[in-house]
Amino acid sequence: MAYLLGVDIGTSGTKTVLFDENGNTIASDLQEYPMYQPKNGWAEQEPEDWWKATCTSIKNVLARSGVPNSEVKGVGLSGQMHGLVLLDSENRVLRKSIIWCDQRTVAECEQITELVGAKRLIEITGNPALTAFTASKAMWVKNNEPEIFDKVHKILLPKDYIRFCLTGEYATEVSDASGMQFLDVPNRCWSRELLDKLGIDISLLGKVYESQEVTGTVHSKAADLTGLKPGTPVVGGGGDQAAGAVGNGIVKPGVISATIGTSGVVFAYTDKFRIDPLGRLQAFCHAVPNTWHVMGVTQTAGLSLQWFRNNFCKEEIATAELMDVDPYYLLDKAAEKVNAGSNGLLYLPYLMGERAPHLDPDCRGVFFGLSATHTKRDLLRSVMEGVAFAMRDCLEIIKGLGIEVNEVRASGGGGKSPLWRQMQADIYNSDIYTINSSEGPALGVAILAGVGTGVYNSVPEACEATIKVMTKQSPNCGNVESYNEYYKLYGKLYQSLKDDFKTLSKLT
Ligand code: XUL
Repeated sequence: MAYLLGVDIGTSGTKTVLFDENGNTIASDLQEYPMYQPKNGWAEQEPEDWWKATCTSIKNVLARSGVPNSEVKGVGLSGQMHGLVLLDSENRVLRKSIIWCDQRTVAECEQITELVGAKRLIEITGNPALTAFTASKAMWVKNNEPEIFDKVHKILLPKDYIRFCLTGEYATEVSDASGMQFLDVPNRCWSRELLDKLGIDISLLGKVYESQEVTGTVHSKAADLTGLKPGTPVVGGGGDQAAGAVGNGIVKPGVISATIGTSGVVFAYTDKFRIDPLGRLQAFCHAVPNTWHVMGVTQTAGLSLQWFRNNFCKEEIATAELMDVDPYYLLDKAAEKVNAGSNGLLYLPYLMGERAPHLDPDCRGVFFGLSATHTKRDLLRSVMEGVAFAMRDCLEIIKGLGIEVNEVRASGGGGKSPLWRQMQADIYNSDIYTINSSEGPALGVAILAGVGTGVYNSVPEACEATIKVMTKQSPNCGNVESYNEYYKLYGKLYQSLKDDFKTLSKLT
């Protein structure tokens, strides 16, 4: 039996999972770390925290599984996309990483659009300049911290920094590289034209591989720190969304995923390079050779519920500890007691600005319709519903582009909640499916590691062998109708408030 290891460097923590070649989870471990928010709209993390979490979680998984390290055929890396990691010539990290949800780079997005040209930028990268992307973060450091930028020897993404720590190689792969906005996405290579226009030397970037290719092997120092065998192959892997899509079997037309992680993402496979002319969806390389994908991202999905839990649910957290259950289980039970529509309360989940469909770094969260009759439970349910409305926004754009949608698979931490899945079924008016594994990105990159090391012949073949549909939830007709009305109002609220969000951003 071959074993494959998937490591997912997420925003709230690093999750490492060991799978057998049938896709069964043998052991897993999660190591958490903080996100720093030095200013409203800023978000940073410490790359050293990711590396420590990776070492500890790999060690724990190997110890728990009892599988000898010699039987681990390959490692795949996944991670939060877009984060900027800067190394100097001694490979020291030059500053905290500015991560995907940081919104400080509005001026740099304008600068990039001006330097490259709006139309050309979309032709080359599939996307308009976004505050989320690495390019605008690199330009921000260049503009605001030139003394740091002058020392930069390499620009890496979060999971590719971990690759460097494991193998000593500066490398990336097409799915995550797409989210840097330095890649020529149709041609799957760095764009010299774009880099020249931005004044970024191509030598600052790692080598680009296809996601299933071996990019290096574990060196002896990393082997000591992780317990892996020296020489274990490490494949390209994928940005968390493309990797999660592979782990959910989103490798053919018609099957799409709705993932509620920290962010919320609706993801569709495309066998040709397709763009949203209005730039509301990201068009990126998929982790399967010669294929692409589009995805709509809502910035604060699981993070909305996590924010609500951390700030307003201390009692539920304590009770959950006594009962030895996940606090989110108790939150689900409480929200279940409230009717669809949260008794006339709407939540706009814009705690960290919004990407699809508004592309607005300045908008912020809103509870609309609060009255003295509302209780904490109503607020809780409206948070969950607001996230599902934001995901419906993404789904509507995908459908509007004429992309086939036959099956929606729920995944991510939020996909584990039967209530949140039912809300999605009712709000999208679509059946919602789950599959046999909830390990999304970690399974996806383990599959890629299996393809790269010859355990499987191709990604679609591996998905066919390991991924099976398990449950289906169908829409409840009564809720569909009332949610349609709430969704119309939800859409109008942003339009009414968008100028006020700008005014507010100038006040803070
Ligand atoms: C995708 C995105 C997020 C992050 C964090 O474009 O920004 O999904 O990768 O999960």
